[in-house]
Amino acid sequence: MTSGRSFYITTPIYYPSDVPHIGHGYTTVAADALARWHRQAGDDTWMLTGTDEHGQKMMRAAAANGVTPQEWVDKLVTEAWFPLLKTLDVANDDFIRTTQERHETRAQKFWQSIYDRGYVYAGEYEALYCVGCEEFKPESEIVDGTGPFEGLKVCAIHSKPLELLHEKNYFFKLSEFQDRLLALYRDRPDFVQPESARNEVVAFVQQGLKDLSISRSAFDWGIPIPWDSSHVLYVWIDALLNYATAIGYGADDENFARRWPGYHVVGKDILRFHAVIWPAMLMAAGLDVPKGVFAHGWLLVGGEKMSKSKATGIAPETLVETFGSDAFRFYFLSAIAFGQDGSFSWEDLSARYQAELANGFGNLASRTIAMIGRYFDGAVPEPGAYTDVDLAIQRVVQDAASRADEAIERFRIDEAIRAVWTIVDELNGYITDNEPWALAKDETQRERLATVLYTCAEGLRALAVLLSPIMPQSTAKLWAALGADQALGTLAEQPIREVGTWGVLPAGTATQALAPLFPRIEQAD
Ligand code: ME8
Ligand code: MG
Repeated sequence: MTSGRSFYITTPIYYPSDVPHIGHGYTTVAADALARWHRQAGDDTWMLTGTDEHGQKMMRAAAANGVTPQEWVDKLVTEAWFPLLKTLDVANDDFIRTTQERHETRAQKFWQSIYDRGYVYAGEYEALYCVGCEEFKPESEIVDGTGPFEGLKVCAIHSKPLELLHEKNYFFKLSEFQDRLLALYRDRPDFVQPESARNEVVAFVQQGLKDLSISRSAFDWGIPIPWDSSHVLYVWIDALLNYATAIGYGADDENFARRWPGYHVVGKDILRFHAVIWPAMLMAAGLDVPKGVFAHGWLLVGGEKMSKSKATGIAPETLVETFGSDAFRFYFLSAIAFGQDGSFSWEDLSARYQAELANGFGNLASRTIAMIGRYFDGAVPEPGAYTDVDLAIQRVVQDAASRADEAIERFRIDEAIRAVWTIVDELNGYITDNEPWALAKDETQRERLATVLYTCAEGLRALAVLLSPIMPQSTAKLWAALGADQALGTLAEQPIREVGTWGVLPAGTATQALAPLFPRIEQAD
């Protein structure tokens, strides 16, 4: 299964200064769904996620809780960030923490090499810093404070006061990379996706780039600079390196060559770090730039970005406890155009759960399995001659499968799901039109009944495979109910790019009873 091309995909590494909210969950399930799709296609897939544990934000969170930064991150990572992956059914291949030895030594090696190549110099710096962003803010993102911060300069994202920092710093010659970066965006128009994100990045770089302060000496919660241990690496240029250190940069050249370059899925808040600074760092080190950076939109609450610092974060578990992890994954990945902002609402989630999952997909599965049980003693029937309506379903399946794969290539998970959903809708319509319950009352229609139910079972076989990257749990139950485990092997083994081939599930396969895939939700009010 892993003979195909390399597909390495990452999420941002999150700050474990606090617990995760559904925004972090959203990015993580998106990267997981893409990874699962590629894995299911036989690509040589690797998915990385992790936590970004250094910097001032972390020091302050720890101090506010009366523990050391290491104690704080250990506690949050164990109690909140690892469990998030279980809650959301994420099949990551690795989890990197920037306080791990493997990361620290390799990150030092990386910066030493950039230093040796002449891209670093020492200087003085004074500028306004946002601890929430862990970033010196450009003019365009500094606004006047209101309310308690009246008269102060605040960060446009966090609405919290900025701090004036004055330090002796080391600088990375980012300004030297302007032309090469612009050439990169021009020669590879899909390097930054979607289009709106690309335009923003190009406009930013066209304005000219300032050299980047890469070290801090006022505190020591970070990785010591290899050529001057009185400084630590600026948290962002430490964090970005995780994508290289986790796959063996500076330690396992063979594995690094096998995985790199990869794709980064990030929120648009951190686009510039990934699409400008990170590629420039790689160029300076003489390495390949990423294959691509995809910036998705924000989950909004009351029209604003949901965030920890504004206390608008919703815990993923609250949704999963009620609806299950499959519904969480399906909802965020289908209801929001990947790349655009979206507003979460409990009502919208509830309505889509009922309409699309319970009444749409779930009901299609339940009634097909039930009718095969009732009319054919639970053995998938042998189809007779196909008519036009049956052949139309076969074309729907074939089309949906190829359109979905094409959408996934463009990272448009929402479009892929929409394509796959044509199978659900068409098959439900096909059942209504062909009335198998009526055919079953007429002995002369036995062969027609067999063809209709075989068509439904084959459609479900394709649906189970196509939806398994999005909804691993319900599709596994459906796979077992179809008897496909016995007849075809595990769901994970089914090649997703060949799923449109018709007639795969053998007649005679023994089906199993199926409990409702998406049970009715008791409304607590
Ligand atoms: O920025 N909507 O970590 P972070 C959608 N450590 N996605 C959201 C979101 C929202 N309202 N809020 C957060 C950092 N996210 C750095 C990254 S990478 C080398 C270092 C998601 O904990 C989204 O993916 O602030 C966003 O980019 C990320 O969480 C920021 O997580
Ligand atoms: Mg943030």
